[in-house]
Amino acid sequence: MSKKILITGGAGFIGSHVVRLFVNKYPEYEIYNLDKLTYAGNLKNITDIEKAPNYHFIRTDIVDATALHTLFSIHQFDSVIHLAAESHVDRSITNPLEFVMTNVVGTVNLLNAAKECWKGNMDGKLFYHVSTDEVYGSLHDGSYFLENTPYDPQSPYSASKASSDHFVRAYYNTYKLPVVLSNCSNNYGPNQFPEKLIPLFINNIRNYKPLPVYGKGDNVRDWLYVTDHALAIDDVFHKGKTGETYNIGGFNEWTNLELIKVVCKAMDKKLGRPEGESENLIVYVTDRAGHDLRYAIDANKIMKELGWEPSLQFEEGIERTIEWYMNNQQWMDEVTSGDYAGYYAEMYGNK
Ligand code: NAD
Ligand code: DAU
Repeated sequence: MSKKILITGGAGFIGSHVVRLFVNKYPEYEIYNLDKLTYAGNLKNITDIEKAPNYHFIRTDIVDATALHTLFSIHQFDSVIHLAAESHVDRSITNPLEFVMTNVVGTVNLLNAAKECWKGNMDGKLFYHVSTDEVYGSLHDGSYFLENTPYDPQSPYSASKASSDHFVRAYYNTYKLPVVLSNCSNNYGPNQFPEKLIPLFINNIRNYKPLPVYGKGDNVRDWLYVTDHALAIDDVFHKGKTGETYNIGGFNEWTNLELIKVVCKAMDKKLGRPEGESENLIVYVTDRAGHDLRYAIDANKIMKELGWEPSLQFEEGIERTIEWYMNNQQWMDEVTSGDYAGYYAEMYGNK
């Protein structure tokens, strides 16, 4: 069956892997990648599929409601997979309003455009909202986030994502817009912007720069390889029940310090440096304001109901990730030129 799918944020980290998967796996679908190309959006992430006959790129800001209405009326999209967002917690602490604009207003604009376009006939239509486990807040015991865990966002980023999730459910409830949601844990892998922990540390180790660990490094995250997230999105899109939410995670918890030591060890090996050399680069810096202690996803629902499961062991995922960044130094050099230097100096000082 032919479908016109609008994927937002497809030039970003996760979006680029989702766009690639859909373009290659479903040649019968027309894939429209809509992206504003902020500092985090990079068309070089998807050069391998840019000439595919079923791939189209549209540069638009989701904050621009008029542009979205025009695009929906021209293209008559059947479905939306919405990933576009401001995604970095530290930036949300510096500039919360930008997160409100893109993550909340942008999402409501997309919901409105879909509602208007699909009014009268919602058959076969789907608005899929991609969200985060951070909406559930911070765990301080051994429990896990379930789909019905009450929302308790702690950062401006997670508050904006929680708000967008509420709007998506409100449109399902109020206007019967067919929606589905997923909330995923921390992703890692190729093409992640090096403001996030793993690519930042890989790049710093390579360049003998300090590794800034926030607080004591005892915060816990649940890591999932990005292509496993893309496969989960494929399953939710095709098999998920309208109105439902699916948690996605790797059952793969690490304290930041444990994780950093794994990366350091693997990098020493990769670069032929004496064991322990990279670990010596660790410096403990002021903690992130309001730093969530632990995220941990219970992914049993998606595993049981949709048959998804993480395919990659963490050790292999980290190996592949390091390999990719080592082999793609030009990508790293390009994204760390320009504005990146200013961001880095403001966050970490000129170290
Ligand atoms: P990213 O920051 O790497 O990419 C975001 C993309 O959105 C970029 O291409 C950017 O140009 C685009 N964008 C930003 N503002 C826009 C706007 N106003 N209009 C149009 N495009 C805009 O983010 P990511 O890490 O790939 O995350 C993608 C989605 O997945 C987000 O919704 C995020 O909340 C969610 N998520 C991320 C993770 C993670 O670990 N990275 C985990 C769970 C959920
Ligand atoms: O849980 C899903 C979320 O994971 C996504 O919704 C977000 O978009 C994504 O950015 C990620 O959020 P985190 O804040 O967990 O990721 P980040 O890579 O920024 O940080 C991971 C952990 O490492 C966190 O506890 C903070 C710590 N950290 C991070 C940086 C950048 C450091 O100790 N030092 C650093 O320099």
